[in-house]
Amino acid sequence: MASKFRSAPRKPEAGGLRAPQPAQSAPAAGAQPAKPRAKVTRATLHEMKQRSEPIVMVTAYDHPFARIADAAGVDVLLVGDSLGMVVLGFDNTLPVTMEHMIHHTQAVARARPKAMVVADLPFMSYQVNAEEALRNAGRLVQSGGAEAVKLEGGARSRAAIEAIAGAGIPVMGHIGLTPQSVHQLGGYRVQGRDADGVEQLMQDAQSLQEAGCFALVLEAIPMAVAREITAAVRIPSIGIGAGPHCDGQVLVLHDIIGLQMDWTPKFVRRYADIAAATRAALEAFVGDVRRGDFPDRDHSYGG
Ligand code: KIV
Repeated sequence: MASKFRSAPRKPEAGGLRAPQPAQSAPAAGAQPAKPRAKVTRATLHEMKQRSEPIVMVTAYDHPFARIADAAGVDVLLVGDSLGMVVLGFDNTLPVTMEHMIHHTQAVARARPKAMVVADLPFMSYQVNAEEALRNAGRLVQSGGAEAVKLEGGARSRAAIEAIAGAGIPVMGHIGLTPQSVHQLGGYRVQGRDADGVEQLMQDAQSLQEAGCFALVLEAIPMAVAREITAAVRIPSIGIGAGPHCDGQVLVLHDIIGLQMDWTPKFVRRYADIAAATRAALEAFVGDVRRGDFPDRDHSYGG
C-alpha cells in the first residue's frame, strides 16, 4: 500500500534530529506494480453509480490521514465540519468557522490525493444568501484547494446550490439528519420515519438534483427510504446510517479506526483500536524515559 504514495518519502533535514522515514516496501518478486489510479472526478462517481460500483468516502482533516486514506483506495476525502467535534473538541459542528475549514482543507489538499477532495461549508457560511454562499464556496476552492463543496439542507438550500454550481463549483448535498440543524431537529435523531418525513426527503432529493448537486449524502434515514431515493435520482447517493442500498458509503475516519473515544453511533463499524494502540505506545515511551532506557546508544549521535 505504501507504494501508492505519490510523493517521495521526506529526507531528514541535514543535521536534524528526525530519523529517516521507514523505507517503502517493494512489490513482491513477480508481482505487478499497482496500476496508477486516475484522479476521481464527479464524472467518475457518476460512472460508478451507473456500473453499480460502490463509492467509498471517508472524512479526512489532516495531511497524514489524507495520504493514508488515498493510498487505501478511498474515492472521496471529505473535510467534514465534524472536525469541530472529532478534532477540535467542540460539542457540535456549530462553532466551526470558514477559517477552520480552509486550514484543514489545505492540509488535506496538500496530499495531492487521487481521491476527490470535498470540503463542508460550515454553519452560517451559506444560509444568509446565495451571494455569501458562493463567496465562501469559492474560498474553500481557491484558498483551501477543495475540488467540491458540501452543504446541508433540502429545498431551503436551493438558491445557494444554484449559485455555487452555476459558478462551476461542484456541490454535494446532504439531507436526512443534518447536524448543523441539531437544535431544530431536537437532537441527533433518525429522520424520515413517518410518511410526511419520507415525502419531504423525496422532494428534497429531487430539488437538490434539479438545483445542480452532483451527489447527495443521506444521513440517518431508514434503509428502505434511502433505497427509494437512490432509485429515484440520477446522481449518486452516499449513505451514513442509511443502509446498504445507497450508491456509496461514508463514515467518519476516527470512528472507523477507533480514535473517537466517546460514544459511537449504531451504524459505525470499527476496524481498529488506534486509541488503545496509541495509549499503549505512549505508556511504553513514558516507562522507557522514566527508567532511563530511552534514548540508548542506537538513538543517540556519537562524536
Ligand atoms: O461532517 C461530516 O463528517 C459529514 C459526514 C458525516 C457525512 O458531514
